[in-house]
Amino acid sequence: MAVMEIVLYPDERLETKCEPVDVVDDEIRKLVDDMVETMYDAPGIGLAAPQVGVLKRITVIDVRPGEGEEGEEGAAVNDLRVFINPEIIEREGTIVWEEGCLSIPGVYEKVKRSARVKVRALDRDGNPFELEADELLAVCLQHEIDHLDGVVFFDHLSHLKRRLALKKYKKALAKLLEEGDDDEDTEGDA
Ligand code: NI
Repeated sequence: MAVMEIVLYPDERLETKCEPVDVVDDEIRKLVDDMVETMYDAPGIGLAAPQVGVLKRITVIDVRPGEGEEGEEGAAVNDLRVFINPEIIEREGTIVWEEGCLSIPGVYEKVKRSARVKVRALDRDGNPFELEADELLAVCLQHEIDHLDGVVFFDHLSHLKRRLALKKYKKALAKLLEEGDDDEDTEGDA
């Protein structure tokens, strides 16, 4: 496995609608595994393929990274989920959540999303599954599937808020490039 470079906003690849995966083969599985390693390395709770420069409909999510590490024997160490060609097939309610993005480091904004979603996708073996999600997992799924459609969380903000957020981001990015990204706090980012 290998840690891939994360594409930073603004970048054309973050504004492009991604292509569905035709066949889940070893090449796709290698990409999935590299994306997982990249997400944990960042660290973040979600990562979409365009964020590593690959314009395919794949995302990996773990909203509880490391949880259970010190728990009972046999406890899950995490909550890793792989979604290939994910589609939201049902949505309900609204929720407002403060979101961050590994491609837009240093900026956190409140975004309105559906409170509950049902998603259909293929897993790492190419088998179809459906999943109902709420709270952070629902938010993260919508954030990641947005990435596959060339949408970032900035695009959900009002004109004014977006302008302010962009200003904040420019400053955050300049600081980041100056200091190097070793101390970067990206834990809740996706
Ligand atoms: Ni993101």
